[in-house]
Amino acid sequence: MYRTHTCGELRISDVNKVVTLSGWVQRSRKMGGMTFVDLRDRYGITQLVFNDAVNAELCDAANKLGREFVIQVKGEVNERSNKNANLSTGDIEIIVSELDVLNTAATPPFTIEDNSDGGDDIRMKYRYLDLRRNAVRSNLELRHKMTIEVRSYLDKLGFLEVETPILIGSTPEGARDFVVPSRMNPGQFYALPQSPQLFKQLLMVSGFDRYFQIAKCFRDEDLRADRQPEFTQIDCEMSFVEQEDVISTFEGMAKHLFKTIRGIEITESFPRMTWHNAMKLYGSDKPDIRFGMEFVELMDVLQGKGFSVFDSAAYVGGICAEGAASYTRKQLDGLTEFVKRPQIGAKGMVYARVEADGNVKSSVDKFYTQETLQELKAAFGAKPGDLILILSGDDANKTRKQLCELRLEMGNQLGLRDKDTFACLWVIDFPLFEWDEESGRYMAMHHPFTSPKLEDVPLLDTNPGDVRANAYDMVINGVEVGGGSIRIHDSALQKKMFELLGFTEERAQEQFGFLMNAFKFGAPPHGGLAYGLDRWVSLFAGLDSIRDCIAFPKNNSGRDVMTDAPGYLEQSQLDELNLVIDIKEEK
Ligand code: AMO
Repeated sequence: MYRTHTCGELRISDVNKVVTLSGWVQRSRKMGGMTFVDLRDRYGITQLVFNDAVNAELCDAANKLGREFVIQVKGEVNERSNKNANLSTGDIEIIVSELDVLNTAATPPFTIEDNSDGGDDIRMKYRYLDLRRNAVRSNLELRHKMTIEVRSYLDKLGFLEVETPILIGSTPEGARDFVVPSRMNPGQFYALPQSPQLFKQLLMVSGFDRYFQIAKCFRDEDLRADRQPEFTQIDCEMSFVEQEDVISTFEGMAKHLFKTIRGIEITESFPRMTWHNAMKLYGSDKPDIRFGMEFVELMDVLQGKGFSVFDSAAYVGGICAEGAASYTRKQLDGLTEFVKRPQIGAKGMVYARVEADGNVKSSVDKFYTQETLQELKAAFGAKPGDLILILSGDDANKTRKQLCELRLEMGNQLGLRDKDTFACLWVIDFPLFEWDEESGRYMAMHHPFTSPKLEDVPLLDTNPGDVRANAYDMVINGVEVGGGSIRIHDSALQKKMFELLGFTEERAQEQFGFLMNAFKFGAPPHGGLAYGLDRWVSLFAGLDSIRDCIAFPKNNSGRDVMTDAPGYLEQSQLDELNLVIDIKEEK
């Protein structure tokens, strides 16, 4: 038997027991005639003791153990004189009587401890060693617990887990597809699914009624902290439902997860905000509502007073940071630099402080009377000690986005974005379409199967840009953790959607013919949602990047640096796939 107990198991009540443990040598210390070894496994760390005076040969063997050697020991549990309150096993130690080296180990490239000395790159290259560390492993344990809770919640509600294919056809909407060449069909390619969207709708046509899948999805898009090229969705679909049914089912799941995973009981309903208000008040379709600082539009107050920057702008708006009037000139310059960074792209920033006596002092005082500045103060309901920050620009939406970044930065600086505070929000009433400048046509904001609000259907012919969708996103702390919609189940309406999206009938048939055909055979009204599992786990674990809750993630260039993928193929493989590689020289 390799072990009688794990390295996280033994307590003071086990004193005098003879036990066998197996694990990895985290570190060893020689102190006089004693050698102490920290033995680690997934469950914890147990201190081993070797006494030179009692067994010199054994102690000698212990002194030769290197870091990460895999060993087995037998010994007696002893109460520690020097207890360690930081370890669950810190009250005891093992007086070792037998030591077996099960495997040696090369010196690891970084220390495998909570505070590792390894940088990101090296830890990614040796991810299997990084996964030995508590911090990373506990994220995966949390992930496991979440998937168990998700399955249990959905199973109780009668959802069936169904696997859908990974090799599917490429679809033109959405992000870029990852494609896979077909050997048996020369010149043809599969795509990896960006989501199981079409299949889950087909399952509704098949009468499955309530489907879910913890599904791997693939999107060839630029990576960010909350995006990986392969990620996992908790993907769901329901028949005979309206938006309210889907929202309440998945709000229920969210509350269940908060309770079972984080011990947070949420009794009230999550607030809802229309997409329009989210954009107007926060400049984002995923506002972080842990704090206020909503935008106030200032065109009426500040235009036409001779300050040409504002006078010529399409949008002038600001935020009020409570109690931040004490910001120094240097801090304000820092904020100006922040909004002027190319990623944000503002031209400058105007500020106004509300002083103790109620007067307002601004960086553009020479253009504005105190009376106007008092109007400015009133527009925000600002109090003495508050700081008003204002941006303007030619493009209202762009300026709102810049102001959104400034608001989030102020939230960070003022400590308003605590990771252990959660603010959930449904964003509803998304527009059905968004105009794409590049291709000069409407694109589906969610996807082409999303149903318009019935009352907006007449607008499809006259003003498609104003049509609202039966689509909803769940946002937590400024992160889009999920989204879904009620689908079109009527083939005539679906056909019209494709027309509006600029598909010819042939192309719509070619791409989505199977779905449109299926809809001819009795499609029930249906709708659903997909949660991003990685994003949920990283929120609950307080992570900055979803990478840390994925066992083997990709780096920012989409590479798996551990297995060194992607890689080149052998010529014979290319031949078999009928592929000729002709890489265009970078201009
Ligand atoms: P959507 O594209 O909004 O909807 O995706 C659903 C959720 O998946 C997560 N997500 C991601 N997580 C990590 N990395 C990525 N690259 C990534 N992309 C998306 C987000 C997002 O909210 N089929 C529809 C759902 C539906 O309509 O039912 C869909 O895929 O948390």
